[in-house]
Amino acid sequence: MTTATAIQEGRDALSESAMLVEHWLSTSVEWSQLPTHLADAAQYGVLGGGKRLRPALVIHSCRAVGGHHNASLPAAAALELVHCFSLVHDDLPALDNDALRRGQPTLHIHAGEPMAILAGDLMLAMAFGLVADSNNTAEVRSQLVSELAGGTSDMVAGQVYDTLGGLPEELTPLEQVKLVHRNKTGALIRSACRMGGLCGDASREELMALTVYGEAMGLMFQVVDDLLDVTQSAGHVGKATGKDAACGKRTYPGVLGEAACRDEIERLLGEALNAIGFLGPNGHPLACIAELMAIRTR
Ligand code: IPE
Ligand code: IPE
Ligand code: MG
Ligand code: MG
Ligand code: MG
Repeated sequence: MTTATAIQEGRDALSESAMLVEHWLSTSVEWSQLPTHLADAAQYGVLGGGKRLRPALVIHSCRAVGGHHNASLPAAAALELVHCFSLVHDDLPALDNDALRRGQPTLHIHAGEPMAILAGDLMLAMAFGLVADSNNTAEVRSQLVSELAGGTSDMVAGQVYDTLGGLPEELTPLEQVKLVHRNKTGALIRSACRMGGLCGDASREELMALTVYGEAMGLMFQVVDDLLDVTQSAGHVGKATGKDAACGKRTYPGVLGEAACRDEIERLLGEALNAIGFLGPNGHPLACIAELMAIRTR
């Protein structure tokens, strides 16, 4: 199969799972139980935007080990809610202070800072509620909660390293940026793959393959994000660009330069693909999604 075919299949896999999760988020979350202005703000931050990569990884990881996507939809929606919470808070004036997200004003610009903080808090709580109340067995539910908690805590630790420092000083600059990225972005992507596997009753070996794939994808995803910050316009990606270096962020292009970043992306893509070879044809959509994420421009 040519890379172009794989990339098109990756687009198809992503849009199919995005439709599933968008429908689930808009119809199965009990928005009407919330105060109207809180529901409006949370829906603004969650619905109708984004690549939906993390839910795609949950759904396609579940299928990759022989599960049906219905078993993974609450977990997929939960992962997207945690991701949206992380974006809303990442954009706040106290963190990255950004005004544009997914091509629209950020939530704190749209609804004010207090509401953005609280709507983000709500998304996080809702995510754990979805997983705890899902139709999975009690054992799987408890594994999902624990996996989501671990991924979320690591993401927050990564955001702290990224924003407030505190990285171990004995690490080289490359080791430091890797630690930031593995936590702030890699952890949720790894959890997405593992949670999908758990929903599909993965064997130990299958879960290990998904874990290795998720770790390589997670790091690759943020290396690409760093590269887009220096190579793309805000209009194209739908969020501010050209500001990581100005804000003193530790980034891959900052440490390695752009050419070496591209080599690193290729290496990580190879690692991801290699890990899921073990899953055979069921893992094909995950392979195509990885190919697409390596060359994405937004
Ligand atoms: C942006 O994530 C934040 C990072 C972890 C780099 P995405 O690029 O997945 O954002 P959306 O969900 O598509 O908007
Ligand atoms: C954010 O990383 C990762 C999160 C946990 C949200 P960035 O700050 O680089 O993400 P963008 O570029 O704003 O999407
Ligand atoms: Mg940030
Ligand atoms: Mg940011
Ligand atoms: Mg970024």
